[in-house]
Amino acid sequence: MTRLLLNGSPRGKNSNSRLILSWLTQGMAEAGVAEPPVLDLARISELEAQRAAFLAADEVVLVFPLYTDSMPGLVKAFLEAVGTADSAQLNGKRVAFIVQSGFPESIHSEAVARYLARVSSRLGWVHAGTLIKGGVEGIRVMPAWQVARTKAAFIRAGRELGREGHFSDELRARLAGPRTFGPWQLRVLRVVMRTGLLNFYWNSMLKKHNAHARRFDAPYGAAARR
Ligand SMILES: Cc1cc2nc3c(=O)[nH]c(=O)nc-3n(C[C@H](O)[C@H](O)[C@H](O)COP(=O)(O)O)c2cc1C
Repeated sequence: MTRLLLNGSPRGKNSNSRLILSWLTQGMAEAGVAEPPVLDLARISELEAQRAAFLAADEVVLVFPLYTDSMPGLVKAFLEAVGTADSAQLNGKRVAFIVQSGFPESIHSEAVARYLARVSSRLGWVHAGTLIKGGVEGIRVMPAWQVARTKAAFIRAGRELGREGHFSDELRARLAGPRTFGPWQLRVLRVVMRTGLLNFYWNSMLKKHNAHARRFDAPYGAAARR
């Protein structure tokens, strides 16, 4: 069986999606699956080669970050490019997805997950499941102990895919928690927000890119009020 892993992050090699793919590969190896090639869709000039690799594969896993409650443009462009292929090249292909996001609640990714199930069915693919994982931004820079549970879950995902050809419902449900915050979590969050701790990472990114002083800019504000 020909397998292929696709990274849909515009950050390419230095992305959370790539890290997740490395854990998935580890799990697949534990299930006796040889390391599949990984292609970065961020290399948009290689779209033709990426499309050909997809069409030649029997099983594909596409991992991407949630962008504006949906997918990065390069993921949509890729899906549209493979969607034009002959149905004989698409029918029966096993495709799994992992959608990971910055916000911790999985509800943000549910709409795009429904789209992925629908596009799989319309293009004749065997949908091997979609995993949703929130709270992923920063995993590349977090200490090992802090990401240990997430890492173990994705290694397990790789094992499941290697052994069963799909993700288990139990793992899918576990990774998707919390779907939304409960009243107690919201109360705690409101208190923590006052300390500024929640904004620490984002503020440091804004400072790094010389944009901190402009963080309350609202370029479309006046038009929106009209
Ligand atoms: C342009 C842009 C839009 C984003 N939109 C969302 C969003 O709507 N919801 C969310 O939870 N995270 C959003 N994020 C955060 C990413 O999903 C998150 O940081 C992810 O872990 C990045 O993964 P990567 O390193 O593989 O690209 C957005 C990030 C960017 C840069």
